[in-house]
Amino acid sequence: MKVLLLGYGNVGKAFVELLRENQLNVKVVGAFKRGGLVAPLGGEEKAVEIEKGLEQLSPDVLVDVSSPNYVNGEPSVSAYLEAFKRGIHVITANKAPLALKFGEILDEARKRKASLGFQATVMSGVPSVNLRRVLPALKVYELRGILNGTTNYILSKMHDGLSFDQALKEAQEQGFAEPDPTLDVNGFDSAAKLTILANVYFGCRKSIKDVRFSGIEHIDFSEVGRWRNEGLKPKLVAKASRSELRVSVEALTRNDPLYHVDGVTNGLLIRTDIQDIFISGPGAGPKRAAYGILSDLLIISSGQSIEF
Ligand SMILES: NC(=O)c1ccc[n+]([C@@H]2O[C@H](COP(=O)([O-])OP(=O)(O)OC[C@H]3O[C@@H](n4cnc5c(N)ncnc54)[C@H](OP(=O)(O)O)[C@@H]3O)[C@@H](O)[C@H]2O)c1
Repeated sequence: MKVLLLGYGNVGKAFVELLRENQLNVKVVGAFKRGGLVAPLGGEEKAVEIEKGLEQLSPDVLVDVSSPNYVNGEPSVSAYLEAFKRGIHVITANKAPLALKFGEILDEARKRKASLGFQATVMSGVPSVNLRRVLPALKVYELRGILNGTTNYILSKMHDGLSFDQALKEAQEQGFAEPDPTLDVNGFDSAAKLTILANVYFGCRKSIKDVRFSGIEHIDFSEVGRWRNEGLKPKLVAKASRSELRVSVEALTRNDPLYHVDGVTNGLLIRTDIQDIFISGPGAGPKRAAYGILSDLLIISSGQSIEF
């Protein structure tokens, strides 16, 4: 199988390393970076347009590990549509295109009978998205998740007695928060992930514009203390039903499975007509995201299609 990368940063490199470790019969033919195409990897960057690169290298799969662009999803959205036109499958770790234009992208993939894999966009290698494939016929009522490790780490530390600023500083020192944590702290990142999960589990065509979200930046220190005294814990909960998508801070009781999801861990509770299902695990890290991509690649290379 031939793979072409869009982006070659932390996750792209971890993915190439994971392929090597697993000795898979997959050839990475090149990677697009900001300045152009590097093909083969390790060579010089050349000013080649994505469309031309797809034409020249004719990969079986385009793997998007580029930075998210929440303005219009480019260059990823155009790259996917060009790939599908040529029957090339797409696997992405980049949330932005799907949070903005899920319906348009998925419809085009279907029309061209190409697969679109995106396990790595939500909870990285923990199968939040791909779990749906093995739960046929279940009627899903509600999704509730802790989908952002940075905010969960900060809230966990605030529950332990730190102020927001102290907890954020500690998260940055530990490498759990970006130097500019705005999109995590204000709930946007959770909203993007919730959009993707809602589309998968409810078969709808929502965009991030349909999510009402707020973040953790205005959480009052003394209120967290009051909640602690009442046995409650604050969590940034991303919640989806068929009628509403919402991200907001909730004070949870001990009998809620999400209460026990602490630190950078993520969790997802899926409520269905037959049973409730709860999964949790680390939601980030280049190797884990690379595993999410690899799991999609192995589904595609086994001849199965990824359909939602
Ligand atoms: N890191 C994680 O734990 C994790 C987990 C799940 C999902 N993700 C997602 O995976 C993606 C990659 O993350 P990362 O940590 O590997 O990021 P990163 O280290 O910053 O790498 C981003 C790569 O994207 C390339 N890029 C940016 N804009 C581009 C453009 N317009 N055209 C072509 N290439 C472009 C960059 O090119 P240059 O090399 O030229 O700068 C770089 O190679 C992101 O969408 C992220 O949200 C990350």
